[in-house]
Amino acid sequence: MEKPSRDDSGGWAELEYQSGFGNHFSSEALPGALPTGQNNPLLCPYGLYAEQISGTAFTAPRKQNQRSWLYRIKPSVTHEPFHPRIPGHKHLVSEFNQLTSSVTPTQLRWKPADVPDAPTDFIDGLYTICGAGSSFLRHGYAIHMYAANKSMDGCAFCNADGDFLIVPQKGRLLITTECGKLQVSPGEMVVLPQGFRFAIDLPDGPSRGYVAEVFGTHFQLPELGPIGANGLASPRDFLAPTAWFEESFLPGYTIVQKFGGELFTAKQDFSPFNVVAWHGNYVPYKYDLSKFCPYNTVLVDHGDPSINTVLTAPSDKVGVALLDFVIFPPRWLVAEHTFRPPYYHRNCMSEFMGLIYGIYEAKADGFLPGGASLHSCMTPHGPDTKTYEATIARGEDAEPLRISGTVAFMFESSLIPRVCPWALESPNVDADYYRCWIGLRSHFSCNGRQAVNSSLTANSGEVLLGDKCGA
Ligand SMILES: [Fe+2]
Repeated sequence: MEKPSRDDSGGWAELEYQSGFGNHFSSEALPGALPTGQNNPLLCPYGLYAEQISGTAFTAPRKQNQRSWLYRIKPSVTHEPFHPRIPGHKHLVSEFNQLTSSVTPTQLRWKPADVPDAPTDFIDGLYTICGAGSSFLRHGYAIHMYAANKSMDGCAFCNADGDFLIVPQKGRLLITTECGKLQVSPGEMVVLPQGFRFAIDLPDGPSRGYVAEVFGTHFQLPELGPIGANGLASPRDFLAPTAWFEESFLPGYTIVQKFGGELFTAKQDFSPFNVVAWHGNYVPYKYDLSKFCPYNTVLVDHGDPSINTVLTAPSDKVGVALLDFVIFPPRWLVAEHTFRPPYYHRNCMSEFMGLIYGIYEAKADGFLPGGASLHSCMTPHGPDTKTYEATIARGEDAEPLRISGTVAFMFESSLIPRVCPWALESPNVDADYYRCWIGLRSHFSCNGRQAVNSSLTANSGEVLLGDKCGA
């Protein structure tokens, strides 16, 4: 099969996908390449090797069990020994402890990172912001960002630590995987499960985005409960690739494996994208966020953000996420006598937010596309002063309002994140973030008159008792 060009005109836009979430897919690039009646025949069609990739323990319950069978020209084991990559990568973390990261309850916000001038591919452009737990113990997560400008060349990346959920913010990703190819644009997301080898090309040059990595579990669709059988992210809008392969002699080709947060390399002389056919339910997939069907309040009050969950990686506790992927898409706000932006909030969960484009509804300025914020466990957050005052000024007669031209998102976790030193020391840290709330003034009134400034009240020793306030 001729290898499509990796540039913009190489047929990526015409890629075919298979539709559905969690399906048992099958795909073959040559007719009859998939064995029938069994997974592991003595001789596979076309002389292919059969190889299973397991995303769950063999004995995981059937409804959680994920594995695929790949039929390939040479098995993935055909490589020289792994060695630590030289140079190493100093900004990846998969075990969050006092040696690798630190904690702060302070609200954090980052301005968008500049894409480097030096040639930088996805691997070298990836850097960890924060996370919790350990890839070794198969419990936890890492939140990364990337800023890159160069396609991966002569190498494939394999993450042995966890699943990547990638949210590009700038520049398309052309991703070649062992299951086939995916084109992922800003406004879409892609999941690359643990262990799959992939290469990312950047047809638009400078690229930037966000990555959530989960250890020891996989993403699934949230339960819909009383919403019913439809709504939010529809299973049929998730797209898996179709089989694609290349048979190339590529001396010096490198597999770069992330293992325990460290990078290792192994040489082989052929492309790892040599899978002629495959079947199974352990696959990379993508999703167009514009397909999301939001549900919202239609009378009073602002719903909890969980109503906008696209995917959830569960913890062992029922209803408690290791990591939720939540979006804030275009939608109507119609609630009556209600403060429509997100309410002021303290949360036992921790919230990392990013902005793909536009203006987030709770921040009039300062939260920029490509930027990020982190509000950890029980750290207060909410609309900035400008947003609060503008909302109040609209009054009770506010007409239905359509939020448009923006998509923000949140990675929300029950595990408290530790933050990497380079993220805390980054010149992109918005040291003035707290000022967006510091101007919130008291609107308190007592019996219809403006209350005495609380500090003056305290200084004068006067206490506003219930009877004085008419409460
Ligand atoms: Fe919140």
